[in-house]
Amino acid sequence: MAVHLWSTSLDSPANDLPELLSTDELLRLGKISHARARQAFLRSRVATRRVLAEYLDRGAGNLVFAYNRNGKPTLADDAQGIEFNLSHSGDMCLIAVAEKNRVGIDIEPVRKGRDYHALANRFYTPDENQLLDSSADEALFYRIWTLKEAHVKARGLKLMEGLDRFECSCTDNGTLAVVDKITERREAWAQRQWAFAPGYEAALVVLGTEKFQLSHHRLET
Ligand SMILES: CC(C)(COP(=O)(O)OP(=O)(O)OC[C@H]1O[C@@H](n2cnc3c(N)ncnc32)[C@H](O)[C@@H]1OP(=O)(O)O)[C@@H](O)C(=O)NCCC(=O)NCCS
Repeated sequence: MAVHLWSTSLDSPANDLPELLSTDELLRLGKISHARARQAFLRSRVATRRVLAEYLDRGAGNLVFAYNRNGKPTLADDAQGIEFNLSHSGDMCLIAVAEKNRVGIDIEPVRKGRDYHALANRFYTPDENQLLDSSADEALFYRIWTLKEAHVKARGLKLMEGLDRFECSCTDNGTLAVVDKITERREAWAQRQWAFAPGYEAALVVLGTEKFQLSHHRLET
């Protein structure tokens, strides 16, 4: 199966097109008081609409989103089974698109010099803390975080429900493996991780399959 990963910069005003947003999106936009967060919401929503419109052969402003109880957006009236998820951080926005398989994507900036051990003590399992303590790699904290969050987002859960549930361990080849501690059952999923751009870690999870082909596309701004 194929997954398309779209990336775009949130620095460009090319996606400043509020006329493409729905009434509820405009309402949400109006409630975001922090200017940069407001801009990121507008630009990432417009970028997502432009990307999805290509698959559906519809106008970007004509797409209708539905939300699960935790806020995961899906296409409300799509017969093709297009699944998507997005993540934005700093000037980066990633949008993952698949047909029929649910996806979760996360990108986070690696903040140098942060006391990530305190955060890990609070949010990570004892085994994950041990893994972090045995490594001098600051990015490992973020690799664990993004992978957990991508698992949470693929299933449309809440982050706080998933930090304990999806436990990361290190495999022999240095990649991270994940165990779902609630179901124990090894349901089919596939995952990928990268240092997506200098200073950023990203993870992608696809449910219902054990492998996928990934292609990367840039949304021009
Ligand atoms: C989903 C969640 C993990 C996102 O975390 P984040 O690192 O801040 O944000 P990201 O940039 O990676 O992803 C945000 C995007 O994911 C999508 N999203 C929102 N909720 C989602 C969920 N539960 N699952 C999957 N995707 C979700 C949206 O498209 C959102 O973009 P938007 O806010 O611009 O619409 C986090 O917000 C969460 O746990 N939400 C669950 C509901 C909740 O707890 N709400 C209380 C907030 S006060």
